[in-house]
Amino acid sequence: ANPSLLILPGDGIGPEVMAQVRRVIDWFGANRDLAFDVSEDLVGGAAYDKHGTPLHDDTMARAQEVDAVLLGAVGGPKYDDLDFSVKPERGLLRLRKEMDLFSNLRPAQCFDALADFSSLKKDVVAGLDIMIVRELTSGVYFGEPRGIHKEGNERVGINTQRYTESEIARVARSAFELARKRSNKVCSMEKANVMESGILWRQVVQEIHDAEYPDVELSHMYADNGAMQLVRAPKQFDVIVTDNLFGDVLSDCAAMLTGSLGMLPSASLGLPMANGRPKALYEPVHGSAPDITGQGKANPIACILSFAMALRYSFDEGENADLLEGAVQKVLADGVRTADLMGPEGGSPVSTTEMGDAILAALDAA
Ligand code: NAI
Ligand code: MG
Repeated sequence: ANPSLLILPGDGIGPEVMAQVRRVIDWFGANRDLAFDVSEDLVGGAAYDKHGTPLHDDTMARAQEVDAVLLGAVGGPKYDDLDFSVKPERGLLRLRKEMDLFSNLRPAQCFDALADFSSLKKDVVAGLDIMIVRELTSGVYFGEPRGIHKEGNERVGINTQRYTESEIARVARSAFELARKRSNKVCSMEKANVMESGILWRQVVQEIHDAEYPDVELSHMYADNGAMQLVRAPKQFDVIVTDNLFGDVLSDCAAMLTGSLGMLPSASLGLPMANGRPKALYEPVHGSAPDITGQGKANPIACILSFAMALRYSFDEGENADLLEGAVQKVLADGVRTADLMGPEGGSPVSTTEMGDAILAALDAA
């Protein structure tokens, strides 16, 4: 049977960028003997409009069955006043929670043609290709006790950083597996110098490494130094694995090494399924961009690169992922730009569909 994909375009520019991904998926079916069983469904505001819930139970069940889920974006001003329990974002949160997607992959990849977009010097970022693996379902954002209490005559705000051994072990495995598909190098970041959870993090990552992944090169770094090194010399890294809080900050920081929001893909992975593939959800980092919805201005590259990640990390199609990323490189090198990729000097931007056309043409020519 063909591998299965569930496509959830969502709201705003979600359907616009996903339409271009559909064309790319069809191209691989027609030209590379790589056919997928694709089904499509509603999520977010679109699902709320039809079913009164941002994620129908049938859609949730389907997401649990398929080999990978590809999501566009959810949300928009039309839904801002809805009750929190049915907000579009809740659809996405439910997917992440019920699929138990504990490993969030955020690549920072610098496309040469866009190196000038970086806030850093060109030679610091040119050719950059690193991956931050952030633990997504535990840590200080979820630990108990939490709350704001009165102590004497002042208030005190409390959160608890808490990691179990198994929570650390599974995200470490996820990072080591990824590293084997890349440059075989992992740097683990915590603050073992001042945090108990950091001491355990370092121990468990080292133990998993020694027992199961001795072939992968492992180093440890304090997260504050890591932040500095990311901006000073990011190319020293391949895979970085870190906890929820440090990962939140470090991945946003790394994103800006490379420029536009319209370029950034992501993946969230869970435990391996019976067929050995991890539970997986791929999505662009950007949201539904209501300010440009319906105008043909959206950059489809973040969503297309999210599909490239699916090829690489769900389907072991590294060569085809390279092919697709190469087509994107080529198009950018040729100067094809959606409006968000225009520098201050201006120029004439292409539409969402024209960017799709150009990427398909580059695939044909490859
Ligand atoms: P946003 O990412 O939708 O937009 C921020 C800015 O970047 C806007 O000016 C937008 O036009 C631009 N932009 C984003 N993606 C682009 C693309 N592919 N091509 C060209 N320009 C692009 O974030 P914002 O405005 O904070 O949120 C808008 C809505 O999206 C809200 O309802 C928010 O809750 C939702 N959202 C959903 C996310 C998701 O589905 N994962 C993530 C972030 C926000
Ligand atoms: Mg953040």
